[in-house]
Amino acid sequence: MGENFPSIMFIGVLTLALCVFPGFVLSQNEGTIRHYKFNIQMKTVTRLCHTKSVVTVNGKFPGPRITAMEGDRLLIEVVNHVPNNISIHWHGIRQLRSGWSDGPAYITQCPIQTGQSYVYNFTVVGQRGTLWWHAHISWLRSTLYGPIIILPKQGTPYPFAKPYNEVPIIFGEWFNADPEAIISQALQTGGGPNVSDAYTINGLPGPLYNCSTKDTFKLKVKPGKTYLFRLINAALNDELFFSVANHTFTVVETDAIYVKPFETETLVITPGQTTNVLLKTKSHFPNASFFMMARPYVTGQGTFDNSTVAGILNYVIPSNIRHSKKLPLFTPSLPALNDTNFVTNFTNKLRSLATPQFPANVPKKVDKHFFFTVGLGTSPCDKRNQTCQGPNGTKFSASVNNVSFVQPNTALLQAHYSGQSNGLYSPYFPVNPLHWFNYTGTPPNNTMVSNGTKLMVLPFNTSVELIMQDTSILGAESHPLHLHGFNFFVVGQGFGNFDPNKDPKNFNLVDPIERNTMGVPSGGWVAIRFLADNPGVWFMHCHLEVHTSWGLKMAWLVLDGKLPNQKLLPPPADLPKC
Ligand code: C2O
Repeated sequence: MGENFPSIMFIGVLTLALCVFPGFVLSQNEGTIRHYKFNIQMKTVTRLCHTKSVVTVNGKFPGPRITAMEGDRLLIEVVNHVPNNISIHWHGIRQLRSGWSDGPAYITQCPIQTGQSYVYNFTVVGQRGTLWWHAHISWLRSTLYGPIIILPKQGTPYPFAKPYNEVPIIFGEWFNADPEAIISQALQTGGGPNVSDAYTINGLPGPLYNCSTKDTFKLKVKPGKTYLFRLINAALNDELFFSVANHTFTVVETDAIYVKPFETETLVITPGQTTNVLLKTKSHFPNASFFMMARPYVTGQGTFDNSTVAGILNYVIPSNIRHSKKLPLFTPSLPALNDTNFVTNFTNKLRSLATPQFPANVPKKVDKHFFFTVGLGTSPCDKRNQTCQGPNGTKFSASVNNVSFVQPNTALLQAHYSGQSNGLYSPYFPVNPLHWFNYTGTPPNNTMVSNGTKLMVLPFNTSVELIMQDTSILGAESHPLHLHGFNFFVVGQGFGNFDPNKDPKNFNLVDPIERNTMGVPSGGWVAIRFLADNPGVWFMHCHLEVHTSWGLKMAWLVLDGKLPNQKLLPPPADLPKC
């Protein structure tokens, strides 16, 4: 506790509750109302001997933890005290009928301007596990992020042994320079942005970097106990491998959905994903310490941060062992940087629990089939008589079905709700690529993308099957696609071009993994299904921030249903204006 400041402080009854839940609490019929206050403020932070002023929540880096119980309502007041425009996204929260609180800037809301505030107001329905929050404007999420922990309802146990302790482990990326300057420069020159200087665990790069040993995440454990690690990949641009030397994980949950438990020494986690794992400690004091390490999984052609973050797992030293002895420190072995085989095997092991208590409600019939290509491309250099720093003097760009998304200057959801959408967006996002080409073969000569603000409109309760196909236009690359407002089921994946005759025969409709972020395999495809039962405008984008900046994003517009409880709620009075 102590990381959030309750707006009003009651003494007595509340004190006990506050020890468990930082934040101001009130009971309601369905769960509890929890108040948080996020003051967006600058804070001086030093890492790798570089000191800079970063945008934070309440002066904390990484940001504060939000804890709730399934069924609770969260009221999070965000007050902007920094020069930048701000919006916050509650990544993975379904936001049933509360799309106004989803957070992506210019999609569901105008950003919160300097000196302004906005109260995000939503109820956690039918979800429990680890999610996270992050800024959803430009690259500000590089320092504005933190965990969301949703506990099961009172009296409902986890579907696995109760852990002795729970530890959030949030991966990030540290830039010595200002990430806002890096991306704005890259968008001007058309080249790839500078890469990060370090990866971090809970904000700390660890001893494998210069001038960083004192900034190491250390976890002290007892022998013979089970720890629940709540892993979150908040890195801007990198998928990560993670392992702890001489220990095995049991994966039990991804994206706040329980999975069939399986053991693994190493896991892979894309930006946007969360993974809960159990780690059983050695039964006796092992006379050693153990590195936990993460480094990137890389499929693209560009430069990347080729470094390793390390934290240390220490055992509590028994009193009968001499303190002064220096313990050996073991190192895990991580897969090669481009080990796609490992990633495929790992993702194939992920299965929904699919029990009566936690069923996999896979849509069995499909109302609408969509096929989207995702990948990089180019745009013309807009500086006259100059060459840009992208491929052959162009600018890097990225697209879905060759549409590179143009961000509007007012929020799409507001425009739609108030009937003022005319000219702001087109409701005709292409259901297929306009031209067939060999998506994963020799790239076509023309690599130029088109630009537009296009939405895919879905009637309420449409059951959707979407194939996302990577392209090799500027080289095949894995793209972790994130869908707002829904979880989806990953019913199939493969390499090469999706074959509509053969591949659907192998779809898993029994226990596919359910999640909100899924890597489209490098040079391959993924098939997802979801039920569009949540009215609103829902962003979908690559969670590699550089690809989002280049336009690898689009939005779904899910219309209201007929019944009163199938309609988007009216906008709150304090919804920011552009
Ligand atoms: Cu985690 Cu649209 O984002």
